[in-house]
Amino acid sequence: MTHQADSAQSLILVGSGGHARVLLSTLLLLGRRVLGSVDPDKSRAELLGIPHLGGDDAVFRYEPAGVLLVNGVGSVASIANRLRVYESFRKRGYDFASVIHPGAIIAAEVQLADGVQIMAGAILQAGCVIEENCIINTGARLDHGCVIHAHAHVAPGAVLSGEVHVGTRAHIGAGAIVIQGVHIGSDTIVGAGAVVLSHVPQSCTVVGVPARPIKVKA
Ligand SMILES: CC(C)(COP(=O)(O)OP(=O)(O)OC[C@H]1O[C@@H](n2cnc3c(N)ncnc32)[C@H](O)[C@@H]1OP(=O)(O)O)[C@@H](O)C(=O)NCCC(=O)NCCS
Repeated sequence: MTHQADSAQSLILVGSGGHARVLLSTLLLLGRRVLGSVDPDKSRAELLGIPHLGGDDAVFRYEPAGVLLVNGVGSVASIANRLRVYESFRKRGYDFASVIHPGAIIAAEVQLADGVQIMAGAILQAGCVIEENCIINTGARLDHGCVIHAHAHVAPGAVLSGEVHVGTRAHIGAGAIVIQGVHIGSDTIVGAGAVVLSHVPQSCTVVGVPARPIKVKA
């Protein structure tokens, strides 16, 4: 894993909803050069206050070596659109920049893959590993040795105790608490405010205190 450090490279923001707005604010704070956003919805994109470059295809006007992308598509339980953006542009040779808010506290030994997004107030303690395209959202706290697999989202204010593993594409809901050593399966959703006391298998949804499975709408 590398920690992408090319802070001079120009950026294109993909998407223009709420998550994109928060990322843009961080990028401007960091003094990054953002060429504009791409989004099929022009009126929404214009609200960001940066140039709207066009729909997603507008990215192809730029050589992959000349820009980095920022995945501005958020994920509230469903990761599908965010994943599609990431994988389709990676296939075409584009790389995604990591976005790390200066107000996040990250221990020196933490490993961050390219394209991770660590938002304001997040705390990542020693030994955490964050794989590609993950979001560690506002004020989330990860204690020692947590491993967050690719494309997972730890939502605002969630607390992961030591050595918690979060599977690929999983979602840990806002304000959820996961006790030490618990493994959350891939594609699983932990509901907002849940307290997770034991391992959760893949592809299910758990809510409540203590967390229990619920039926998911078709
Ligand atoms: C868990 C979640 C995905 C379920 O969504 P859903 O599949 O649409 O489920 P529903 O809203 O139909 O709820 C199904 C049942 O579970 C209950 N429920 C849903 N979410 C719950 C939660 N977080 N805690 C406790 N109960 C919950 C509902 O009250 C409902 O109960 P009922 O059948 O007795 O009426 C969603 O409620 C949630 O918590 N999402 C996380 C949001 C988040 O993290 N946002 C941060 C974005 S940055």
